[in-house]
Amino acid sequence: MAPAVLAVDQGTTNSKAVLVSVDGTVLATGSAPVGLSAPQPGWADQDADDLWRSVLAAISSCLAAADPVEIAGIGLSTQRESVVGWDRRSGDAAGPVIGWQDVRTTSWCASLPADLDTLVRTRTGLRVDAMFSAPKLRWLLDHTNADRVGTVDSWLIHRLTGCREHLTDAGNASRTLLYDVLELDWSPALLEAFDVPRSVLPDVRASNAGFGVTAGVPGLPDGIPIVAVLADSHAAMYGQGCTQAGMIKATYGTGSSVMTPVDEFVAAGCTLAWLTDRPLYALEGNIVSSGAALAWTATMLGLPDVGALMELAATVSDAGGVSLVPAFAGLGAPHWDRAARAAITGMSSSTTRAHLARGCVDAVAHQICDVTDTIPGTPGRLRADGGATVSDLLMQTQADVLGHPVEAADVAEISALGAAELAWTTLGARTGWAAQRGYRSFAPAVDAAVRASRRAEWAAAVASVRTSK
Ligand code: G3P
Repeated sequence: MAPAVLAVDQGTTNSKAVLVSVDGTVLATGSAPVGLSAPQPGWADQDADDLWRSVLAAISSCLAAADPVEIAGIGLSTQRESVVGWDRRSGDAAGPVIGWQDVRTTSWCASLPADLDTLVRTRTGLRVDAMFSAPKLRWLLDHTNADRVGTVDSWLIHRLTGCREHLTDAGNASRTLLYDVLELDWSPALLEAFDVPRSVLPDVRASNAGFGVTAGVPGLPDGIPIVAVLADSHAAMYGQGCTQAGMIKATYGTGSSVMTPVDEFVAAGCTLAWLTDRPLYALEGNIVSSGAALAWTATMLGLPDVGALMELAATVSDAGGVSLVPAFAGLGAPHWDRAARAAITGMSSSTTRAHLARGCVDAVAHQICDVTDTIPGTPGRLRADGGATVSDLLMQTQADVLGHPVEAADVAEISALGAAELAWTTLGARTGWAAQRGYRSFAPAVDAAVRASRRAEWAAAVASVRTSK
């Protein structure tokens, strides 16, 4: 039997499993949806057991679709910042997964001392915000009996290893506000500031350091090593081969993430992409709503799915002056105004459903540019991945408003492939799969004046929803 790596990409809306051979060939895929609920406005809960079952279902359908293989190891890619708590003795979840979009702790964050933000920036590269894990962990500890906590990668490692391991990778840890990305350890000062005891947190390992072996997982043999663990956006960057300063990638998921590697850590918008033989830092901008905005708009327009939204949007040449700012849970990078709320501006009596659809497509692209505008130097070509990149309309719009070429990866499972590639590399294989991958290329098709006018229209719409100017 030929060996394969089993890569699992656990995201906000679904779990995917992919079997990948040593040359990067995808042998089989499986996926299963995960529920998301909002028991109160601004909350984003997922059932921790349901999330685990979705991983099992994805693995099961992937293995069923493949010829028999020897699983050489597992690579994990996981949604970031979301947190889970469980009981040390029983191993059972002690509450919901509190999702990264959840803003229940916004006012608690605002009550923290103002100088904490400086400590957070210099130690983590992030900022005090309800999106990151620390405030959610504090909430879990206050409202549940959890005596072990972690991000989604920790929860999956816990379950995959039969409740034996309590571990996380440095890249996921870097999104918690508690991990010192220069010292490469939990920060005592930040643990104290957010009142999270070290004893409830996982041990942090390099992203390819090994995370235990499978035990008692339905459908999988015991003893398969969990070789590599990456946060999903970071895994996409790895999968895109975006490992050197000057390269830039955007992942279009429920939200979007723009990342570009940097040679040295900078205390503003920087994150630890992964830790292998050395840390790789990246500038990162996390956009709260992109795929979610497309799905919302499709629903509001009575369309069956995002594909139908794209078709409708393509029936008009532009949005007819409409801007849709999808600040449903506030604005993330680079505006960071979580109290802002969504708006549709620029409508007239000639506005049609197609203009609204087109305005939403434009919004996804403009939000990426809002982040790339903050990155020093010319972004150059942008490598794109994630579900929405299947749309030529979105990719062309992205190139038009960016003013630079866009290359869309020809595989949907780039985060899973990134985790698989790091796992295979760690197992001793020669990889470099990105160099062999195909891309759809999109060159800007509008001139600078049109681009500037579209960007100005968008900027005015964003300014109109901001609560902090
Ligand atoms: O930071 C949140 C991000 O990791 C979520 O990714 O793919 O579920 O939208 P995704």
